[in-house]
Amino acid sequence: MEVRNLTVKIEEKVVLRDINLSVRDGKVHAVMGPNGSGKSSLAYTIIGRPGYEVIEGDILLNGKSILEMSIDERSRAGILLAFQEPPAVKGLRVAVLATAALNKRLGASDLTKPADPSIPNKIYSLLERVGLPSDYAYREVNVGFSGGEKKRHELFHVLLLDPKVIILDEPDSGLDVDGVRMVADIIKELRDKGKAILLITHYARLMRFVKPDEVTILYDGKVAARGGPELAERVEAEGYSFLNGDRH
Ligand SMILES: Nc1ncnc2c1ncn2[C@@H]1O[C@H](COP(=O)(O)OP(=O)(O)OP(=O)(O)O)[C@@H](O)[C@H]1O
Ligand SMILES: [Mg+2]
Repeated sequence: MEVRNLTVKIEEKVVLRDINLSVRDGKVHAVMGPNGSGKSSLAYTIIGRPGYEVIEGDILLNGKSILEMSIDERSRAGILLAFQEPPAVKGLRVAVLATAALNKRLGASDLTKPADPSIPNKIYSLLERVGLPSDYAYREVNVGFSGGEKKRHELFHVLLLDPKVIILDEPDSGLDVDGVRMVADIIKELRDKGKAILLITHYARLMRFVKPDEVTILYDGKVAARGGPELAERVEAEGYSFLNGDRH
């Protein structure tokens, strides 16, 4: 996936300016940057969330523009975002949502009854993989979930839907030490399977486990620095103040 000269407006405010960035299959591209620098806006623009108006540039998937595609079409084309702040959905159980999502993929008209007999087992084994007890299948989506449990549930959906381009918006925030290791292991596994991964994070800790192929730093809606994992270490050690010197 390639983001080319992308400038984006939300409600008359320019939040991203002339962003260039690409993620290749089997690679992890990490995006860092201070609060409000535009990381989540970039993620939302890529998935096509309404309200994020592309005023210049393009987003390409396998060389073809996706800008005219709806959020649903982008999802079916294989782009998935694991949210920074996933919403709670009262009345909708984890297993019901997961079954509906898989059924939809399989083209089933009835979204409630598993379209394939392997679906329930798949749900249980993936819940286990992300460290959620199997009875979470019957909990309402994110209702009363702890911060870390919400992150684990997002990752459960990534594994369930098996997308090609995976955007992880702070998958490590709120996770305990073992949780961060688990996220790192899953990211490495997905990279080995050839997925293209855009990893938004504030912490070098996750990157020490993952070793991203590329690191981009956003600052005030612009690409302020690009490099390898050493850039993440520099941010951890010095904060973002060094960018002021570099940018002028
Ligand atoms: N709907 C909106 N209306 C107005 N401003 C918005 C809207 N959505 C985002 N912004 C602004 O866009 C800027 C970028 O926000 P964004 O959420 O992309 O930052 P971020 O880099 O993800 O920050 P964080 O590290 O805190 O998650 C912020 O200044 C934010 O207030
Ligand atoms: Mg954000």
